[in-house]
Amino acid sequence: MTNVNTHDTNGKNILIVGSGGREHALAWKINQSSLCRKLYVAPGNAGTGEWNIPIKANDIQSLVHFAKTERIDLTIVGPEEPLSLGIVNAFQAEGLRIFGPSQAAAFLESSKAFAKEIMDAAKVPTAAYQTFVDKKMAEQYIRDIGAPIVIKADGLAAGKGVIVAATLDEALDGLDTIMGGAFGSAGEKVVVEEFLEGPEVSLLCFCDGDRALPMTPVQDHKRALDGDQGLNTGGMGTYSPPPFWTKDLEAEVIRTIAQPTLDVMRERGTPFTGILFLGLMITVKGPKLLEYNVRFGDPETQVVMTLLKSDLIPIFEACIDGRLENIGIEWLDGTAVCVVMAAPGYPGEYTKGIVIKLPETKDSQVIFHAGTKMDQGELVSSGGRVLGVTARGESIVAARKEAYALVEKIVFPNAHYRTDIGIKGLAE
Ligand code: AMP
Ligand code: GLY
Repeated sequence: MTNVNTHDTNGKNILIVGSGGREHALAWKINQSSLCRKLYVAPGNAGTGEWNIPIKANDIQSLVHFAKTERIDLTIVGPEEPLSLGIVNAFQAEGLRIFGPSQAAAFLESSKAFAKEIMDAAKVPTAAYQTFVDKKMAEQYIRDIGAPIVIKADGLAAGKGVIVAATLDEALDGLDTIMGGAFGSAGEKVVVEEFLEGPEVSLLCFCDGDRALPMTPVQDHKRALDGDQGLNTGGMGTYSPPPFWTKDLEAEVIRTIAQPTLDVMRERGTPFTGILFLGLMITVKGPKLLEYNVRFGDPETQVVMTLLKSDLIPIFEACIDGRLENIGIEWLDGTAVCVVMAAPGYPGEYTKGIVIKLPETKDSQVIFHAGTKMDQGELVSSGGRVLGVTARGESIVAARKEAYALVEKIVFPNAHYRTDIGIKGLAE
């Protein structure tokens, strides 16, 4: 796909914080903007190599120092951890412009119990639930309600703190795991929740504190294996948009979920600016919210950036300045599919240092890097999720064909990937 940058000398110096596929996709898009003068990614991966600086995403002090000395005009934060550590507050305290929620607003993701409290206050449709710090009481509640039931560690647990239990035994084992210290302090509090059914959609919204502007909706594939089997992962692939999505459904989600959330956050003195990522389940009783994330999704961003026609920079600026109402976003026609290629063993123990060879890509294809690095002139794997092989096509069928044709051409011995990304969109 086109990768042109006129690099306007009057443009902005931009810093992206993070090192995953999401950050490569953001960098790929921003690099195409005529409003970008110089781009940096901290610390980045092999895909963002030309822009990388060796500062870790959680090293907030060093990032502030870098932004000051290099005259960074705009910083964009990818992962949740620096946000929950207060990177936005630290930058703002130094007069630096940064896109993302404050530490207090980021609490929507860092505490599931807080998220539920806000959902209640905003009357957002969600699963019925109870929060517990006492294991005995949690156990009694689980026995009273029975299976299927869902048990969630309160704190950040790298996407692994949620147990969807089909049986009472699974539920009680899950409670033992979470409250037994497997997630450290993240498991001191649990949320026990009603089991919901329906297709899941990730709706990412640009937010300026007052209003939410939704992006193209995405379906993620969280389980490791085809047919949604196997362990939960960070996400094995995505496609956008799902065929069942309608403008009416989008309007309902904004009216019943996004807007009331922003209103409550603003009324509490912690307005939400940044990306509000709604993890939705479309039930027979309408859209319900499973969770908030306070950042771009990974691998959602790979398909969203592939379909985004508008320049990203003016949208970020409008969010920071509270003038999103003047912004319209344009999307390319068609569908995008992203197939994640992971290291053998992922999401369990996995091998690192596998040598990878990448083919040429067509205009409709792009390979986003995640866990990759250069080692003595060779591209090697350095993480669990390694590549996000992405393609755009007129239909799901066409985009899948282009994405999987590219997967076949990549030399990555024993790579693990799903063969059914986007299939759920065909079945609907
Ligand atoms: P979360 O980390 O909250 O997104 O949960 C991870 C996954 O667990 C979700 O993507 C859903 O597939 C599933 N899940 C979470 N909450 C529920 C629920 N109340 N009912 C059914 N499945 C759920
Ligand atoms: N793909 C799900 C997430 O980014 O949380």
